[in-house]
Amino acid sequence: MSSYNILLLGSGGRECAISWKLRQSKLCKELFIAPGNAGTAQYGTNLPFSVTDFEEIKRVCLEDRIDILFPGGEDSLVAGIYDFVKNDPELKHIIVAGPSQEGAQLEGSKAFSKKFMERHNIPTAAYREFTDENFEEGIAYLKQHDLPIVLKADGLAAGKGVIIAQSTDEAVEAFTTMIKEAQFGDASKKVVVEQFLDGIELSVFALSDGTNYVRLPEAKDYKRIGEGDTGLNTGGMGAISPVPFADDAFMQKITERIIEPTVRGLKQENIIYQGFIFFGLINVKGEPYVIEYNCRMGDPETEVVMPRLENDLVELIVKMHEGKLNEVTVQHDKRAACTVMLVSEGYPGNYPKGRVMTGFDKVNSSIAFHAGTSLKDGNTVTSGGRVIAITSYGDTIQDALKTSYENAAHIEYEGRYYRKDIGYEFK
Ligand code: AMP
Ligand code: GLY
Repeated sequence: MSSYNILLLGSGGRECAISWKLRQSKLCKELFIAPGNAGTAQYGTNLPFSVTDFEEIKRVCLEDRIDILFPGGEDSLVAGIYDFVKNDPELKHIIVAGPSQEGAQLEGSKAFSKKFMERHNIPTAAYREFTDENFEEGIAYLKQHDLPIVLKADGLAAGKGVIIAQSTDEAVEAFTTMIKEAQFGDASKKVVVEQFLDGIELSVFALSDGTNYVRLPEAKDYKRIGEGDTGLNTGGMGAISPVPFADDAFMQKITERIIEPTVRGLKQENIIYQGFIFFGLINVKGEPYVIEYNCRMGDPETEVVMPRLENDLVELIVKMHEGKLNEVTVQHDKRAACTVMLVSEGYPGNYPKGRVMTGFDKVNSSIAFHAGTSLKDGNTVTSGGRVIAITSYGDTIQDALKTSYENAAHIEYEGRYYRKDIGYEFK
């Protein structure tokens, strides 16, 4: 294989972990990250433009002779970056590590993904969808629904579009605000109402070439801000891999009932999909159900998945492009990996920015994947809610966590917060 110039889109901990992994590949020539953060700057060249600035993406692709475009998050994919590249004669030779705009609807529209699962008999919560047109029917439906009731804005709502109502009144109120007051803008003009599934969640990842796929290490993330999974939802406060309850028998069910029908279903429906599929799953008494699909890797899951992926990531992407993932055997590192997310005070609400960070030189035996950081006057400063992910390996999850916690304590900035109980269920 020759070597490749790569443009990665995004600026979070996920993109820092992907940059770290890409940089290790002998197939990676130049690596650019847009917009990137203080961490990605260690592995490549940051470029200051937004992930949805397609004209700027085009300019850089031509100027820097990009061979692989790697959208880290969903925004550019849902906005149609794949189709933009493939419909442009000057760009269409570029490998895009992500699906077409239609394929990205698996994440971009809850109603689309629910219908897709229904067509392919993929286990998921029972649901109905409503808009302003059948609003009254929706209210009647809510009134006879078992509690709790799950309400989801149809479109992208930056992870905030899901409401789990504990009473009928709460459900009716949320439903009304979502539809009548467009609480999440266009995203909530359509609302999916679904059955509540009671169980423990996990994240499973596949890379599909449209026909074949490889499965990457699975992970569990910790979404709530508070210890014991309490308080507000966040982008994710930590992650572990492997997931102790995801034994061979359970993974086999996931493969047969969920991963294979998804890859096959996309192909049958002629939906162009060469990229990552993130299966947000829940284990209900030993049976896996899909909570959501995402058309990209997870964050902070990537901060433990990339360290446990032994294969060359660039080679996987090239094989994906060639439709030859059947020739690849994915090797998962036997060790456990975990990550602990350091955040800014106030997160997931308003938080300060620009706090000077110190202690990076004291980090030992862990990897500090930067999320919301930037460089200012020679200092690394905070620039986001989630600031840094401290990832470690260990023979067990608890060993890995111990190392991450020792190192998390070395990184200092005013208002630092992190959960001290990642992996608590598996002690
Ligand atoms: P989503 O944006 O679809 O991933 O939903 C966000 C979170 O809401 C999930 O990670 C779950 O914790 C929770 N959730 C979503 N759908 C359901 C459901 N049907 N039953 C129980 N919890 C759910
Ligand atoms: N950690 C969940 C996500 O990336 O959506």
